[in-house]
Amino acid sequence: MKIALIGYGKMGKAIEEIAVSKGHEIVLKIDANNTSDFSKENIQKANVAIEFTGPDTAFENISKCIQWGVPVISGSTGWLDHFEKAKKLCEEKKGCLLYASNFSIGVNLFFEINKQVAALMEPYDNYNVSMTEIHHTEKKDAPSGTAISLAEQILAQIGRKKKWVNEISSETSDLIIRSERIDPAPGTHTVSYDSPIDSIEITHTAHTRKGFASGAVLAAEFANQKMGIFTMKDVLGL
Ligand SMILES: NC(=O)c1ccc[n+]([C@@H]2O[C@H](COP(=O)([O-])OP(=O)(O)OC[C@H]3O[C@@H](n4cnc5c(N)ncnc54)[C@H](O)[C@@H]3O)[C@@H](O)[C@H]2O)c1
Repeated sequence: MKIALIGYGKMGKAIEEIAVSKGHEIVLKIDANNTSDFSKENIQKANVAIEFTGPDTAFENISKCIQWGVPVISGSTGWLDHFEKAKKLCEEKKGCLLYASNFSIGVNLFFEINKQVAALMEPYDNYNVSMTEIHHTEKKDAPSGTAISLAEQILAQIGRKKKWVNEISSETSDLIIRSERIDPAPGTHTVSYDSPIDSIEITHTAHTRKGFASGAVLAAEFANQKMGIFTMKDVLGL
């Protein structure tokens, strides 16, 4: 498979290593210094594009791939205000968009565990649920995209929580997400249920970026020659 990497930072480089080790070819690498090379002619040399840039650039990059008929896998976080527009464009152009706030297989299993724990805890209102996410200091967005996914899963199950907030709040209907920025930290997410009697916690800790990168390559293999809007749930058949 021929792959274009849009974003050649920490994730782009980790993805390159895994893709090449699996026999794929990187035919285009775009970062902030060569955005003029991101042309229709160049991107169409690839079977799929893998986009890991950041909150401010993701939507434009994704739109270009869709418009130029190249399936796009995006892991950029913090751009979801534009997700509905991206979906609409993808439907209009009969393109392929696969987005995941987290590509690691472990986190996607953790998502399923989170939903089940939230459903179990729903009747027990003496437990207050809150979350913590820890990432490296270069991370631009807070809370993390993964934390938002986890929070939305909890809000869908636990009726006493109405919205997530990324600040201290005394409002009991707020689901508090604490964000900590510490180096080096590829990503830790904890969901805590605390009562006066005891506490229950579930935690996912990423040890390296390899988990995200291998999931993104798996997603690219899945999306090659497909049409539609997908997530890691589709890739993993969860
Ligand atoms: N979904 C996941 O599994 C997952 C995992 C880790 C990181 N992320 C997210 O991926 C994104 C990138 O993370 P990173 O750690 O690689 O960041 P990074 O800062 O190391 O790399 C970002 C890259 O994007 C490039 N870039 C900036 N503007 C660009 C533009 N207009 N066009 C093309 N390239 C451009 C930069 O030059 C750099 O190469 C972030 O949003 C991060 O939160 C997602």
